[in-house]
Amino acid sequence: MSSKLDALEEQAQTCQACDLGATRTTLVWGSGNPNAQIMFIGEAPGRKEDEGGLPFIGAAGAHLDEFLSLAGFARDDIYIANVLKCRPPNNRDPQPHEIEACEHWLIDQIHQIAPRIIVTLGAFATRWTLGSDTAISAVQGKVFKHDSYFIVPCYHPAAIIYDRTKSDAFFQVARTIAKL
Ligand code: URA
Repeated sequence: MSSKLDALEEQAQTCQACDLGATRTTLVWGSGNPNAQIMFIGEAPGRKEDEGGLPFIGAAGAHLDEFLSLAGFARDDIYIANVLKCRPPNNRDPQPHEIEACEHWLIDQIHQIAPRIIVTLGAFATRWTLGSDTAISAVQGKVFKHDSYFIVPCYHPAAIIYDRTKSDAFFQVARTIAKL
């Protein structure tokens, strides 16, 4: 365990930097291997995550597990965090001021984990990580080299449920990662 990461998580538990601090049930810090070479970044906790305190434990998480097994990984091999640590009411989109208030936690997590690959799940995580407004469909599955890591944008696992083309593209990213 990384004691620095644990200390940060403990500090975050009392965070009230935006209004979501008042409506959350549980702050969802992140989970997985603190020494992971691959880090996944999602959007924000949903209802299940808000109740359970862990990322991707609902329906989208089941798709993520399929993705991981195709890439040859288990949850213990990777680290998962979200752009927002608290659930937006009714799963509405994260607001710019919420992302701004929360992003220092994610920056700390990336520094502590120092992954070789960051997989961004969905538009919000992709835009935040690439620092651009590019549409997810334009970058999905591509590999971007950052200073010390690769960034691989991917559709959000919740987006593939009803769209076969997205589903194929989503699982293709698992193969790209296995090769990387
Ligand atoms: N969707 C996300 O983006 N993150 C979660 O943790 C759960 C659902």
